[in-house]
Amino acid sequence: MNLILCGFMGCGKTTVGRLLAQKTGYAFKDTDALIEEEQGQTISRIFDTFGEAYFRDLEHEICRRLGGTDGMVISTGGGALTFERNVQALQKNGKIIFLDVPFETLKKRAGSDPARPLFQDGEKAKLLYEKRYPLYLKAADVLINGGLSPEQTAAAILKQLNKMGETV
Ligand code: S3P
Repeated sequence: MNLILCGFMGCGKTTVGRLLAQKTGYAFKDTDALIEEEQGQTISRIFDTFGEAYFRDLEHEICRRLGGTDGMVISTGGGALTFERNVQALQKNGKIIFLDVPFETLKKRAGSDPARPLFQDGEKAKLLYEKRYPLYLKAADVLINGGLSPEQTAAAILKQLNKMGETV
């Protein structure tokens, strides 16, 4: 089984993912890092040169591939699990965990980050967040309320999985 972290930009998927991997002994994979590594360029460069649709296809290919693995903690890009094809690819062998963090906190952490092309404009990002929120909820097997430290968040995830009878 894999543990898949989802949520909006800045919710802590990568930080919490690394911690979860340490705690469980699972391997850690980050979909954005894999794309950058394989393409030899940054996400923002890919967006600039080829556009978002091209990026989404690369992202889907990675999700499809990771869906066939086991024993991984997978941190996804903020848009990945708003697409049904990626949810299907990853959920067949994993539990999707939504890190639910209020928009104002996300904005403080990730707003205007040049590495995040879809968080350059706060107003647009807010609309995107509102549009995506129900999709994250729909995809999620586990909902974790944000606002906790990464350590507390990782512990809360393990507790919740344990309650669900999942052995990790
Ligand atoms: C995106 C989020 C980014 C990255 C890309 C698109 C999005 O990942 O995949 O910039 O659509 O929300 P993070 O959530 O890790 O910033």
